[in-house]
Amino acid sequence: MKIAVFAGDGIGPEVTAQAVRVLEALNLDGMELTEGDVGGAAYYKHGHPLPEATLDIARASDAILFGAVGDFSCDHLERHLRPEQAILGLRAALGLFANLRPATCFPGLEHMSGLRPEIARSIDLLIVRELNGDVYFGEKGMRTLDDGRRQGWDMMAYAEDEVRRIAHVAFRAAQGRSKKLCSVDKANVLETSQLWRDVIIETSAEYPDVALEHMYVDNAAMQLVKAPGNFDVVVTGNLFGDILSDQASMCVGSIGLLASASLGERQTGYGTFGLYEPIHGSAPDIAGQGKANPMAMILSAAMMLRHSFGLEAEAARIEGAVAKALEDGVLGGDLGGTAGTQEVGDAVLARM
Ligand code: IPM
Ligand code: MG
Repeated sequence: MKIAVFAGDGIGPEVTAQAVRVLEALNLDGMELTEGDVGGAAYYKHGHPLPEATLDIARASDAILFGAVGDFSCDHLERHLRPEQAILGLRAALGLFANLRPATCFPGLEHMSGLRPEIARSIDLLIVRELNGDVYFGEKGMRTLDDGRRQGWDMMAYAEDEVRRIAHVAFRAAQGRSKKLCSVDKANVLETSQLWRDVIIETSAEYPDVALEHMYVDNAAMQLVKAPGNFDVVVTGNLFGDILSDQASMCVGSIGLLASASLGERQTGYGTFGLYEPIHGSAPDIAGQGKANPMAMILSAAMMLRHSFGLEAEAARIEGAVAKALEDGVLGGDLGGTAGTQEVGDAVLARM
């Protein structure tokens, strides 16, 4: 079980250390952790946010545990040298096209949501975000127009096979849940979205047991705060998925609790190769202070055990311990509490 550990920037290393403690406590046979540099940390050490050596570690592994990247001191660099290129580069190089972002309200944390408790309590959804295409990976550039004005541009595009493969992931996920799928697009304005919608409809013929609905992204943003309990599986493109998943995290109370899995087609001897990361970022404002809540990172490790290693019982054991810690009032600053990074790690370990 080869696991690459890329902690990255800001709070990345602190929260990753706690997830590693949790994994080590399980005493899994043959588990091997290899660390690699990514993000701003890698740029300052090697001159590149995603060094070749890191990519080699990734390719030789069965799964990747990824902390966070992002460092304001790199904002002046050319785009290809910025920290974010580490995660974008890994997603592209490893063909990790399916991003699963579950959002559920933990019992007892309803009051942390910006929504009324009875609405927060109803949230149990899964965002399936396409991760290899869209305006993220289209051509882009800066140019000066004939009249002297500067213009920045980014091309948004989806090819039908890119939509089809994420559609299959989403329909299968819906089959495993309550058989409801909502596809989010902007087909009233964008051609990219019209193709997206057409292909989703074509694919739905293979899943007659799943009830499919379509929603424009602006309406979806509204429904997510109005009646989030009506969503189950949501499938959407890269950009809309980025935005809606941050929104969903605050609907359930904190971005410090949400984990994610990024999967491709590659199968290892254990399961599906994947990258696992919290949906939160590097939070430079609290980095190095031992304050960051490591729960999203710990829950990402649980997702890794489930999806990449088929270790359902171990995954459930970690998730149960996190839920119990929250129930017992072990709350980080993001949840209005005072528990520090190490303390939360201790609490989860004690409950495992
Ligand atoms: C995320 C992040 C990334 C994204 C950034 C760090 C490039 O916001 O994983 O949601 O936009 O995909
Ligand atoms: Mg994001």
